[in-house]
Amino acid sequence: MSTAATANNRVVSGMRPTGRLHLGHYHGVLKNWVKLQESYECFFFVADWHALTTHYEEPQVMAENVWDMVIDWLAAGVSPGAARLFIQSRVPEHAELFTLLGMITPLGWLERVPTYKDQQEKLRERDLATYGFLGYPLLQSADILIYRAGLVPVGEDQVAHVELTREVARRFNHLYGREPGFEEKAEAAITKMGKKNAKLYRDLRRRYQEQGDAQALEVARAMLESQQNISLGDRERLFGYLEGSGKIILPEPQALLTEAAKMPGLDGQKMSKSYGNTISLREEPEEVEKKLRTMPTDPARVRRTDPGDPEKCPVWQFHLVYSDEKTREWVQEGCRSAGIGCIECKQPIIEAVQAELRQIRERAREYEEDPSAVRSIINEGCERAREIARETMEEVREAMGLEYK
Ligand code: TRP
Ligand code: SF4
Repeated sequence: MSTAATANNRVVSGMRPTGRLHLGHYHGVLKNWVKLQESYECFFFVADWHALTTHYEEPQVMAENVWDMVIDWLAAGVSPGAARLFIQSRVPEHAELFTLLGMITPLGWLERVPTYKDQQEKLRERDLATYGFLGYPLLQSADILIYRAGLVPVGEDQVAHVELTREVARRFNHLYGREPGFEEKAEAAITKMGKKNAKLYRDLRRRYQEQGDAQALEVARAMLESQQNISLGDRERLFGYLEGSGKIILPEPQALLTEAAKMPGLDGQKMSKSYGNTISLREEPEEVEKKLRTMPTDPARVRRTDPGDPEKCPVWQFHLVYSDEKTREWVQEGCRSAGIGCIECKQPIIEAVQAELRQIRERAREYEEDPSAVRSIINEGCERAREIARETMEEVREAMGLEYK
C-alpha cells in the first residue's frame, strides 16, 4: 500500500471543551502531548465547533470551558513555547476547507464512520440527526489536512476518523493533483535542487519504483522536507513524482494511537465525567483525600482481618499507575494475607495523587491569576496556525479552480 504521508513531523490534535479535565485526561492525553511537543512541531487546539455538533442546544458550555481547558493544558505542562495552542473557530480556514472537502466526500463514507451511529445511540437524549453531526469526522479531516500534519495522536475511538482523513486526502490528490505537463514540471523541479540532491532523488525514486524499497521512499521524503530552495508547488510535485501519480497537495496523515488510558476511575471503570468517578485536575486537596479514602475496595474485605484480592480492587489499578515494584509487592502480599488494612494501602496513592495535583494546581493558579497571559498565548497560537492554514488554502483554492485572476 502506498501512503502519501510525507516524512512530515508535524502533529495535530484537538480536544472538545465540554467539561473540566480530570486525571483520565492527564494520563490518557496530556502527558502524551507534553512528550510529543519535545520532538515534533505540535498544533493543539480547542475543538469548539466539534463541541457544538453535540452541544448546540447549550452554547454556554463552550464559553464556560474553553479558557479553563486551556489553563488545564498549561498546568499539565503543555508549553506555549514548544507547541501552538489555539481555538478552532479562530482559524476560520478550517471551515473553508471543510466546505470544499464536502464537495468531494461521498455521503456513504460519512454514514459508515462507526462513531456516527454509535454516538447517536449513546447520546439518545440529544437530537444528532443533523448535517453538522454527520460532518463531524470531515471537519476533523479539515483540522488535520489544513496543517498537512504527518501524525495525529488519538485514542482508539478516533482511528476511524483519521482513516477517513486519509481517504479524503487521497481522493483530493487524485482529483486535483493531475496537471498538464506534470512529468516535465517534476523533472524541471528535480534539477532545481542542485546536482547532488537531484542525483540522490533520482536514485531513491528508482529504488522505490523498481524494487519497492520503502526505506528509499522515506529517505527521499525526508530529503524533500529539508529542501529550502524549492517552491511549495514543486515540493508537492516531487512528493507525488516519487510514487508516479501527480501532485500531493494534501498528504495523508498517520494515526498515532495513544495507549488505552490506564487511568481507572474511582470505581474501577474508565474515568469519565458521565460515570461520576473523576478527580479533576484542580480538585481541592481535602476533596481528593475524601474521594480516595471513600473509594470502594475488594468487597470481600468486610473486616480488617478478611483477606482480599487486589485484582478485584480499583485501588490496585491506581497502584499500577502510581506505585513502584516494591510498593506493589507490599500491596499484593499485605492484601492477600490481611496484613495491611485498606486505608493503609491507599496511603501511598493519596500521597502520589496529591503530589501530582499539587504541581498542576500551582501552575493553574498562576494562569488563573493572569487571564490576559492565557489570552495572549492563544492569540499568538491562532496567528501562527493561520499562517500555515492560509498557505494550504491558497493551494487548495487554486487546485479547485477558485483562484480568479
Ligand atoms: N474528535 C476528537 C475527539 O473527540 C477531537 C478532535 C477534533 C481532533 N479535531 C481533531 C483530534 C483533529 C485530533 C485531530 O477527541
Ligand atoms: Fe484493595 Fe489494598 Fe484493600 Fe487490597 S488492601 S482490597 S488492594 S485497598
